[in-house]
Amino acid sequence: MANNNTNKMLTEAKKTKKDEFYTRLEDIEKELCNYKNCFKNKVVFCNCDDPYESNFFKYFALNFNALGLKKMICTCYAGSPIITEQLSLFDVKGLVLKKEDSKKPYKIEICSVHDFNKDGAIDLIDIKSIIEENENNSLSLLKGNGDFRSDECVELLKESDIVVTNPPFSLFREFISLINQYNKDFVLISNINALTYKDVFKMFMEDKIRTGYTNFNVGMYFSVPDNTPKFHRIENGKKFVRVASSCWLTSLPVEKHNDYLILYKEYSEEKYPKLQNCKGINVETYNDIPDNYFDYIAVPITFLDKYNPNQFKIVGSAEANILPDGWKGMTKEFVDLYYKQGNTGSIRIGNRLTCCISSKGIASIPYKRVIIIRKRNEVDENV
Ligand SMILES: C[S@@+](CC[C@H](N)C(=O)[O-])C[C@H]1O[C@@H](n2cnc3c(N)ncnc32)[C@H](O)[C@@H]1O
Repeated sequence: MANNNTNKMLTEAKKTKKDEFYTRLEDIEKELCNYKNCFKNKVVFCNCDDPYESNFFKYFALNFNALGLKKMICTCYAGSPIITEQLSLFDVKGLVLKKEDSKKPYKIEICSVHDFNKDGAIDLIDIKSIIEENENNSLSLLKGNGDFRSDECVELLKESDIVVTNPPFSLFREFISLINQYNKDFVLISNINALTYKDVFKMFMEDKIRTGYTNFNVGMYFSVPDNTPKFHRIENGKKFVRVASSCWLTSLPVEKHNDYLILYKEYSEEKYPKLQNCKGINVETYNDIPDNYFDYIAVPITFLDKYNPNQFKIVGSAEANILPDGWKGMTKEFVDLYYKQGNTGSIRIGNRLTCCISSKGIASIPYKRVIIIRKRNEVDENV
């Protein structure tokens, strides 16, 4: 029993550590500058963001007028190990929180921003002053722990139009399902692994979600707490970790998803391995999608970053457990051939993962596939 408890605590601690990745301002600016028109007169909610350390808070506070925001709300979580402790966002600390309250979760609501000290520019000193002066803006303690699922945070969610944050990855499923439940727009940092969560994948199929402007196979650096033992670099005394699989996800329009992929490859039986699950082929990269093929095509997950719903339809993904019509599990012939060719790993007859055999008779199970089909109307319009 003691062992079980210890294991549970270790797993929780590991999860919590993984959640303490703080987004750099430059990455936020690079992505959010593309949605400028979407924020006008909107209430933005950053619900996993300690204003003292969150660059999302900094971005929206400083660009409040440029974006034409109606309001911004920012709540922080009591479980954050660096709550008001480490990365002092307000270079000027002071009256904002009373000392005895400095470890408690709180919220900041901002409804107007102006050049308080009349020095010609809006900066964090102005933001601090307008909060202290209570000019239409407030800082107040939360009743609970600031969990995005708590009643008071859900009330704030209801009041908001767009949620923008980098939520804890360990709670990503719950996070997105809550936003969905209240039908809110969002711009979030996520991980490529989350794309095949069933609920997230369904949203792709229904064209309710798409990847953001930042290409998702370039990786992003995040700052991490000082006591993080493993990191990739140090800048100005701060530790940074690189996450190769991070990506932006949004419900807002993203122009690149209106672009048509230029298909220049020609289909031939010799070149394209045949899917064993249904009538279709496997391609190794979206560049290999042939121009003259209209059955199912299994593409790598990176295709989602190029997906134009007018050009293709997503019909499923075995990893998301959403199977296209007529999808079959692995046959005995496939499993036998796979092992005969020296492959290892555990597969069995009936396994529903995407599997294929090339014209040379090579059996393979490609990594994480999305199954798509060309849209006929697109072809008619574009010939
Ligand atoms: C990946 S970090 C990102 C922090 C910040 N949003 C940013 O982008 O810099 C996730 C944050 O969510 C906080 N968090 C963890 N569980 C939470 C919960 N249940 N409700 C709200 N915030 C939570 C963590 O403490 C952490 O600060």
